[in-house]
Amino acid sequence: MSKVPVYPSGTTINDRYVLGDKLGTDGSVYVADDRHLDVQVALKVLHPIGGFARSWDEAKRLEHLRSRFLVDVINADVITSSDLRFIVTPLLTGGDLESTAASVGLGVRDAVRFAQQIATGVGRIHAAGMVHRDIKPANVLLQGDEILVSDLEMCELLDAAGHASRNGSWCTLAPDVAVEGGLCSIRSDVYSLGATVFYLLSGEYPVDHRLPLAEQKQLIERGAIRDIRHLAPHVPQSVGTVVRRALAFAPDRRFSTAEDLGNALAHAVKGRRNWRRVEHDGHLHCLEGDSFNGKAAILVCTVSNGRRIDVVTRHPAASGTGTGRRLAGVADSSVTPSGLSSYLQRHIKALA
Ligand SMILES: Nc1ncnc2c1ncn2[C@@H]1O[C@H](COP(=O)(O)OP(=O)(O)O)[C@@H](O)[C@H]1O
Ligand SMILES: [Mg+2]
Repeated sequence: MSKVPVYPSGTTINDRYVLGDKLGTDGSVYVADDRHLDVQVALKVLHPIGGFARSWDEAKRLEHLRSRFLVDVINADVITSSDLRFIVTPLLTGGDLESTAASVGLGVRDAVRFAQQIATGVGRIHAAGMVHRDIKPANVLLQGDEILVSDLEMCELLDAAGHASRNGSWCTLAPDVAVEGGLCSIRSDVYSLGATVFYLLSGEYPVDHRLPLAEQKQLIERGAIRDIRHLAPHVPQSVGTVVRRALAFAPDRRFSTAEDLGNALAHAVKGRRNWRRVEHDGHLHCLEGDSFNGKAAILVCTVSNGRRIDVVTRHPAASGTGTGRRLAGVADSSVTPSGLSSYLQRHIKALA
């Protein structure tokens, strides 16, 4: 593989783009000032693979698939006196969803809203007879309260049997792609979208991404994925069921389209209080429910008490922590560490 040069901040490309910091953890994308148009953009350098210049495919797809939930392309060109190609897209200052949802995930409603938008963007790719083949939170960018699906580099046309060659990232890879000789399909994209939703809800992937890759691969191939509600007990059972179906081991048990998955999620959160995980110094797993149907907001804090865990339920104080008013008829309790997740599932359900 050719060595990827890192451009120092201040490098000017084609007498037009002045590079700033590198963006994200993947690849070679830089913030850049476009001196012609006087706007900030994102500039992605396409490094040659195996000595061959990269194709213009990603740029062409971005152009042809232009739609509300897919990133736009502004320019595609070659760096003067080199064979390095690059693509310019609008700079999306909200960052990617991997960083936005890191560690504790997003509120259920935001996660579901973004999932629907991703499903619409990906649906546009499917409608063009292609699959994305690398749906994951790091490839979804945030702009205000909307997302844009990006990184269409790996999009490929489906063959007559509905397959495309194998590609993906471990964090959201479907078992039918992970196996030797595996192939991508619309349903493997649906799985990767399901794994993305799993992350948006919990800040975790279905298979723990901290494990060595060989171990992750084995778990993915066996379908030994974690339960979303064990990691995120505030996720309603109805949503958990939808996520599980999107992540079904057998592709034909999954939703047949990305939009079906998005719609099922939207339906699953209807008429429910919106919960999110919050972080408090010195506490364990704390959850906040928004006010709902005229009922005040709720904060459930869990605090280690030696061998057990205290569960304290209050209306949030103005400061946002758990020292507010008690809830009528709701007692504090204490549970064992191994029983915490199922206790919280029942507790959140009962609080409604
Ligand atoms: N238009 C953009 N605005 C802001 N950040 C971006 C933009 N495009 C890419 N990034 C950041 O750069 C990262 C890598 O970009 P991506 O297109 O996914 O390239 P790669 O093919 O190297 O994964 C993304 O995860 C995101 O954090
Ligand atoms: Mg990427």
